[in-house]
Amino acid sequence: MASLLFLFLLSYVINPLSVEAIIPSLYVFGDSTADVGNNNYLSDKAPKANFPYYGIDFPGRTATGRFTNGFVSVDYIARFVGLPRSPPAFLSNTNGGLKWLRGVNFASAGSGISKTLWIDVIDIDEQIKNFKLVAADHRTRVGNRTTDRTISKSLFCFSTGSNDLFALFQSLDPTNKTLENQMIESITNKFQDQLTMLYSLGARRFVVFGTGFLGCIPEIRKLVPGNNCLEDLNNLSLHFKNATKSLLQSLSSNLPGFKYTFGDVYEMLVPVFANPLQYGFREMKAPCCPPPCTLNSTYCRNRQEYYNWDSFHPTEAVYRMVAKLTLFGPPRVANPINILGLVNT
Ligand SMILES: *[C@@H]1O[C@H](CO)[C@@H](O)[C@H](O)[C@H]1NC(C)=O
Ligand SMILES: *[C@@H]1O[C@H](CO)[C@@H](O)[C@H](O)[C@H]1NC(C)=O
Ligand SMILES: *[C@@H]1O[C@H](CO)[C@@H](O)[C@H](O)[C@H]1NC(C)=O
Ligand SMILES: *[C@@H]1O[C@H](CO)[C@@H](O)[C@H](O)[C@H]1NC(C)=O
Ligand SMILES: *[C@@H]1O[C@H](CO)[C@@H](O)[C@H](O)[C@H]1NC(C)=O
Repeated sequence: MASLLFLFLLSYVINPLSVEAIIPSLYVFGDSTADVGNNNYLSDKAPKANFPYYGIDFPGRTATGRFTNGFVSVDYIARFVGLPRSPPAFLSNTNGGLKWLRGVNFASAGSGISKTLWIDVIDIDEQIKNFKLVAADHRTRVGNRTTDRTISKSLFCFSTGSNDLFALFQSLDPTNKTLENQMIESITNKFQDQLTMLYSLGARRFVVFGTGFLGCIPEIRKLVPGNNCLEDLNNLSLHFKNATKSLLQSLSSNLPGFKYTFGDVYEMLVPVFANPLQYGFREMKAPCCPPPCTLNSTYCRNRQEYYNWDSFHPTEAVYRMVAKLTLFGPPRVANPINILGLVNT
């Protein structure tokens, strides 16, 4: 029953609801799962994806800085909510703030809620500071009233947490659940401060993606005999996504007008890993473009059938599935309401 619904959703084409935009703007915060080119402007120490064969399935085969072969989930969400294009990378601004009026993407690969193992990347605190600059720019262009109304009706999308968990996992003793609970609580508290800060700046509609099967990414599988998933890391991710889900529930009962969609990526992936073929995936372990994924690499042809694009990131096919389920999916994977419900409230 559940999987029939999933198959229906997978065949559903993502088209804008109408030619009129149904939300004014989309602001995106997060890591490589949402970066559309901010890291292109950072130092050499920051992770980069602005060279072939990244973007091989992007229009014009362009390596935009997205860490996949084509689009990422926020691109599909932008299209669905009627925006003329996916919000531009904050650092790509070349035209004053005019380009910012329909939203901005602040995401930076390697970043996290807290400091991560990467340096010279833009963490969430700094991404929120950048949002403040954008909001101030809106005020000078369209005035305070329009800015306040726009912010209250816009979507604030977060795709973060994985890099915090990689850093945490390195320092954690897997047998010490007390320590694990404390550390998860500390990341979640920080995330709470960040979401509350945006709320105080007028944000009301949030879309938050939970962390997925981190133990199954190719670079992590290498650590496990038989190339299997690292179950302890999957469990840590499950723990964190549970905590994120509870955090959002508590914020919405404590902050008047706070509305959200939690995109439960972990729950979306349970049936996919149990039954990949049913979702069109023939290869769940190997990356399509093996490291270092440069012009010298030999990449796979049947990219729709690969779960992994490079040794850390999924293919566009996975991002599209996650976007569709968060937009239209049942409460098990998009709760308490999906994005379609969120933008209609
Ligand atoms: C707009 O709001 C800011 C504070 O957010 C205030 O400093 C400024 O004076 C306001 N401008 C107008 C024209 O009301
Ligand atoms: C587990 O972590 C807690 C909190 O840091 C610490 O107090 C405790 O000694 C640790 N227990 C073990 C068995 O290492
Ligand atoms: C995952 O976490 C649950 C709940 O904390 C625990 O019962 C289970 O043993 C863990 N599984 C693994 C593989 O660590
Ligand atoms: C996560 O939440 C589910 C459902 O509430 C629960 O069964 C599971 O034990 C939790 N796992 C962890 C690791 O917190
Ligand atoms: C490709 O391989 C050649 C020869 O091994 C090497 O000189 C070159 O730097 C490589 N190019 C890239 C982009 O990795």
